[in-house]
Amino acid sequence: MEKTSAQSFSGFVLDPLREFFEYQKEQGRVFLPTTSKSILNRRIREEVEPPFGSYDTLPELERDIARCQRCRLFQKRRNTVPGQGPSPCRLMLIGEGPGGEEDEQGHPFVGPAGQLLTRMLLAIELKREEVYVTNVVKCRPPENRVPREDEIEACRVFLDAEIELVTPKLLLTLGNCSTQSLLRSQGRISELRGQIREAYGRPLIAMYHPAYLLRNPGAKREAWEDLKKVKKEYDRL
Ligand code: URA
Repeated sequence: MEKTSAQSFSGFVLDPLREFFEYQKEQGRVFLPTTSKSILNRRIREEVEPPFGSYDTLPELERDIARCQRCRLFQKRRNTVPGQGPSPCRLMLIGEGPGGEEDEQGHPFVGPAGQLLTRMLLAIELKREEVYVTNVVKCRPPENRVPREDEIEACRVFLDAEIELVTPKLLLTLGNCSTQSLLRSQGRISELRGQIREAYGRPLIAMYHPAYLLRNPGAKREAWEDLKKVKKEYDRL
């Protein structure tokens, strides 16, 4: 049956427009005509829901993470996974993103990679409770895929806030994703690891991700060298 012009108009113009505005709304962008009424509405909205990005405490930051829909990862998460640890804290570890266990429990590095991480820390006489552990994205990427550039950028506001509140003296990135993101480099972890670099005005050391070490135990020797460097810096700072 041939479509009427009203059906075509709805299918080709109204539906895509509706989808566009719904997507923008999900992203927290609202389009309003700039009449004085809409300016007033915007002010009211900002007072009720302050913009993402300025926090005085970690619980305030965690509340914002929990309501975040700044990228597509919110759609499939069971829990958001903010960082965990004392604040202030001298050492901040930064991984890639939550996996299945982390998504289930709402805490970072609690699965098999997290258990290895705890043992690695103990090897340099650091207890897990003494360090702050977080990820570049706070929601699990589906099928544990690597977070995409736009997801990392959307979540960056939370990592920035964690670093500002926790004031670590030393950053330790785990694996390609967080290392490349913080150093804004395309280099591989095998090239970037083990040297003292800089991000957020602080020393940064990169090392292999514990999940990689579980799959490639042969790389543990290099990881041990990197851990010793971390410990030396940690004691010095
Ligand atoms: N891998 C990560 O990068 N982060 C976690 O929290 C768990 C596994």
